[in-house]
Amino acid sequence: MSSGNPKTMVILISGRGSNMEALLKSRLPGKIAAVISNRPDAKGLQTARGQGVETAVIDHRAHPTREAFDAALAQAVDRYSPDLVVLAGFMRILTDRFVARYSGRLLNIHPSLLPAFPGLDTHARAIESGVTIHGCTVHFVTPSLDHGPIVIQAAVPVLPGDTEDALAARVLSHEHRIYPQAVRWFLEDRLRIAGERVRVKGARAGVGVLYAPEPDQ
Ligand code: GRF
Repeated sequence: MSSGNPKTMVILISGRGSNMEALLKSRLPGKIAAVISNRPDAKGLQTARGQGVETAVIDHRAHPTREAFDAALAQAVDRYSPDLVVLAGFMRILTDRFVARYSGRLLNIHPSLLPAFPGLDTHARAIESGVTIHGCTVHFVTPSLDHGPIVIQAAVPVLPGDTEDALAARVLSHEHRIYPQAVRWFLEDRLRIAGERVRVKGARAGVGVLYAPEPDQ
C-alpha cells in the first residue's frame, strides 16, 4: 500500500461476472491485479482472462471447513497486496476473521435496497412483498451478512406484472453503474467511514424523488 502508486484491487467472483466486467470496462484509476473465483467453472474467469487479467481459483469444495477455505482465499488475495478487495457476485459467506482482515477495504454489491431483503432471492422477495421500489446497494462488508456502511444505492420501480428476471435485469443495469462509481471513490480516497455511515467527499447529494407508481399530478 505505497502512496503515490496507483491503488490495486482484487475482485472475487463466483459466476457470471457481469459486475466484474463493468469494473474492467470502467477505466478505473487503479489496477485490477487479479480476479479470484471459488468456482473453477465461473464464466467471469474467461471474461477476465480475455481482457488480460490474471485469474486464480480457490475451490471451496477442496477445503474441509469454512475457516480453511477462507485462509486459503486470504493467502491468494494477499499475494497481490491489494488496497481493496471487491466482492462481485461472490456467493460464499465469509468468516469474521476474513472480514476483519480486510476491514475498511472490502466492498460488496447486494441486489436490494439494504437493509431490506438481505440474503438470497431478493427480487422474488421484493415482488412477493409488494414493495413498489427496489434496487441495489454497495456497502463495506462487516461480520453481519449483507450489512455494513452503505456507500451508494440505486432505486428502480417494481412494475406491474414484473417477473423476477425482468426486475433482476432492471436492477442489474444500475449495479453496473453504482459499483464502478463506488470503487472509483474508494480509489480516489474519497470515502470516510464514521460508524454506520459513509461520507463521500465531494459527491453531490441526490435530489429528486422516485415515485412508484406515479402520482396523477
Ligand atoms: C448480482 O446481482 C450481485 O448484486 C449479486 O450477485 C449477482 C452477481 O452477478 N451479489 P454478476 O456475477 O456480477 O453478473
